[in-house]
Amino acid sequence: MPTRRAALRAGAAVLAAGAAPARAASRPVALGSAAEIGAFRSDPRYREALKRYCDIVVPMNDLKWDALRHERAGFDFAGADEIVAFAEANGKALRGHTLLWGEALPPWVGEMTTRAEAERELTRHIEVVVDRYKGRIATWDVVNEVIKYDPTSGGPWRDTVWQRLLGPEHVEIAFRTAARTDPKARLVLNDFHFEERDPGAAARRAVALDICRRLRDKGIPIHGLGMQAHLYAERTIDTEGLQRFMRDLDGLGLDVEITELDVIDWKMPADAALRDKHAAALVASFLGAVASAKRPKAIVTWGLTDRYSWVGETFPRKDGARARPLPLDADYRPKPMLAVLERYRRGTG
Ligand code: XIL
Repeated sequence: MPTRRAALRAGAAVLAAGAAPARAASRPVALGSAAEIGAFRSDPRYREALKRYCDIVVPMNDLKWDALRHERAGFDFAGADEIVAFAEANGKALRGHTLLWGEALPPWVGEMTTRAEAERELTRHIEVVVDRYKGRIATWDVVNEVIKYDPTSGGPWRDTVWQRLLGPEHVEIAFRTAARTDPKARLVLNDFHFEERDPGAAARRAVALDICRRLRDKGIPIHGLGMQAHLYAERTIDTEGLQRFMRDLDGLGLDVEITELDVIDWKMPADAALRDKHAAALVASFLGAVASAKRPKAIVTWGLTDRYSWVGETFPRKDGARARPLPLDADYRPKPMLAVLERYRRGTG
């Protein structure tokens, strides 16, 4: 890996020569969005927005187990194939989400009882899915949400069927199998709640680093950490904590990617302009904290338009007003958040 030390040396040499140091924050960052299959199929404006605003497309739900594996014996790639084909036809890169998660599982997964069975199913699943998109899906969220919500009280693992049947090794099995199946794929550990100013988030950062370090020590490939970044509008960003986290990831030679960015505005006043302004400021403060220490490899939002988002369903507002979590409003008009994102895409963020 090009080390931080080498970069520092280069920086010191530039300073010694009296020249202005190169601005670390000038590399353009690829922007992307998750694509939800229902909207993708039914709404041409949705597809146009994906073409216009994205460098990267992520099937939102169609690579999850419950989409691919209604039946234990087979695989149903219909939805995933559609979105992958669209991305390829339009020159977009792809992220795969996700090979292992404790949610979005078909009922038969809950019927597994033995370690051997779980290992066999998990390995086969990853082999078949990664192989199908080998060389096409460049980056995989190999595991999603494996860290306990609050590791300060017990932990560090989230209680899932994989953890119950395989123990902590489920993460190693997943990374090993993905790497073996597509040795060129970029492999990411994806999780949430890293950015907040509370002991739970700090503990989650420590656990994430620990998992990455252990994989590295065992020679199991991992290339990056994905921060979902579902940002709560009523909470603040832990800038120093995030900067330290970025430096620690850098020390391990890992990339950081923002993988599911949106703003949960359920507790904000109804005024739309005010909510949009606040969301943009929060996103700017989050991305600024990350990028001041480490330029993210990608910034992916969890959808593009407020017309379709999981936020309104999962975090409903008491006043019944529509959630405004994303860079375009429900009529595809750009919101202030888009301008923040576009600055990163241009390299001026
Ligand atoms: C959400 C999707 O956006 C919804 O359409 C679906 O009904 C449930 O899952 N963290 C994740 C994502 O890793 O996969 C989730 O996506 C949102 C939270």
